[in-house]
Amino acid sequence: MSHPITPRARVGVLISGSGTNLQALIEAAAEPDFPAEIVLVISNRPGAGGLQRASSAGITNLVINHHDFDSRAPFDAALNKALQSAGCQIICLAGFMRILTPDFINGWAGQMLNIHPSLLPSFPGLHTHHRALDASARIAGCTTHLVTPELDSGPILAQAVVPVLADDTTDTLAARVLKQEHRIYPQTLRLLAEGRIRIVDGRAVIDDQVPPEGVILVNPAVV
Ligand code: GRF
Repeated sequence: MSHPITPRARVGVLISGSGTNLQALIEAAAEPDFPAEIVLVISNRPGAGGLQRASSAGITNLVINHHDFDSRAPFDAALNKALQSAGCQIICLAGFMRILTPDFINGWAGQMLNIHPSLLPSFPGLHTHHRALDASARIAGCTTHLVTPELDSGPILAQAVVPVLADDTTDTLAARVLKQEHRIYPQTLRLLAEGRIRIVDGRAVIDDQVPPEGVILVNPAVV
């Protein structure tokens, strides 16, 4: 396979936890034709599992602990300094559990992605699987979107749908959704790195979009 001669987009990934989405991005970026490389991983939490994943992959990683700062702005400034020093062009929030300031977000407008474990605009915020079960939702899923100052409200880029099963717990539903997160996040990063995402009237347009896979999901099945 010929290796692309264009330089790969330099990506910084922000995490707070286990980093399974980070792992999916690391594995995608290991493919020779992937248009981005992860050059930095930052966790706001010491000991986050994702730090070990970065180290195992030989990716520079560090902790910038939000407890070391007296407000959000200096924490965000420290994040920005590290990301800029590493030459990052794209940020991926991957299980990152801090609210970023509008100044920080606006400084990365159109270059910052997030993965959210619900079908936005349904269930923005936390505890999405618990809330979906509470609402007796029959489908659930995940969403990638560009990050804007309003939480979980940026232009939607990709979504995947899974059924909610009668005996689901938050853990079983979360596991089913997480598997799809690991598929759509690398695909979304590829689209952004390839310059195939345009914002038109506040909505994301994807150039050369491949038609959706899969069939219509009806739950419970019509028999
Ligand atoms: C995932 O469900 C993600 O959507 C949410 O945090 C969870 C854990 O992500 N933001 P990870 O395993 O740390 O990537």
